[in-house]
Amino acid sequence: MRLSGKTAVVTGGASGIGASVCQVLAAEGARVAVVDRDADGTRRIAAGIPGALALPADVADSRQVDDTVAAVVAQAGGLDILVNAAGVDDTDAKARLAEHFSTGAPLDVTAQLTDEQWRRMMSINLDGVFYCMRAALRIMLPRQAGSIVNISSVGGVVGGLGMPHYSSAKAGVLGLTRSVAKEVADRGIRVNAIAPGTVRTPMFARSPKGIGGPVPMRRTAEPGEIATAVLFLVSDDASYITGETLNVNGGMVTV
Ligand SMILES: NC(=O)c1ccc[n+]([C@@H]2O[C@H](COP(=O)([O-])OP(=O)(O)OC[C@H]3O[C@@H](n4cnc5c(N)ncnc54)[C@H](O)[C@@H]3O)[C@@H](O)[C@H]2O)c1
Repeated sequence: MRLSGKTAVVTGGASGIGASVCQVLAAEGARVAVVDRDADGTRRIAAGIPGALALPADVADSRQVDDTVAAVVAQAGGLDILVNAAGVDDTDAKARLAEHFSTGAPLDVTAQLTDEQWRRMMSINLDGVFYCMRAALRIMLPRQAGSIVNISSVGGVVGGLGMPHYSSAKAGVLGLTRSVAKEVADRGIRVNAIAPGTVRTPMFARSPKGIGGPVPMRRTAEPGEIATAVLFLVSDDASYITGETLNVNGGMVTV
């Protein structure tokens, strides 16, 4: 029970990677707060985890984020772990990519991207991570303890084809992770990122076949394989690791 006595907030906890993170952290003794804008999914995942809190919220709304963290502290007495797994893809861009793969038609995502598509991606995948980190740090800093893991993507490391907005937001998450890690390292708080390759979730099911390129392991990750990497980073087993990006991608990209 590596996390007994700890309270963890997991955004995107209603589905895929986030839901698996909730289950894995709870199995190690953490009190988990499931946070997701999908209210039904939030309650469904929380109902399957003893003691879990269900807190539906939109991470792109900083007031909702602040209220959610305040509710966690009020109900659980603190906040020790934050995992930012909430995120969105762009089905329009993926449809263009699928056509490009199947017909060889020139790819035209960036020139066709609307302001709204760009802002939606930034507001959830990057602003949302910042809002949650800021709210969590306001609790963690006075206590001089905490661990944060942000779920980026291989697209943020290498620049995913046909995903300029997604890749930019995910690269932004890596910069945010590294900068904040240095800022708070002397106050007992660690901040790390995970860059998954392809993971069997609803988001991946919407992706064109072959996205991200060949995987040397010749298979897609299960969500639990990302969740156990999260567990390692938030636990004391990773006590000297901060500002790091763990590439969990079956060998797709090595750096
Ligand atoms: N699946 C993959 O292959 C893959 C690869 C690399 C990175 N990722 C990243 O992993 C994370 C989890 O993705 P997943 O594959 O589990 O996807 P998913 O679609 O299964 O789950 C994402 C969850 O985030 C929630 N969410 C979306 N917008 C939100 C918002 N504004 N506020 C609160 N919750 C919101 C959704 O409701 C959903 O429950 C994402 O950040 C994604 O970009 C996924």
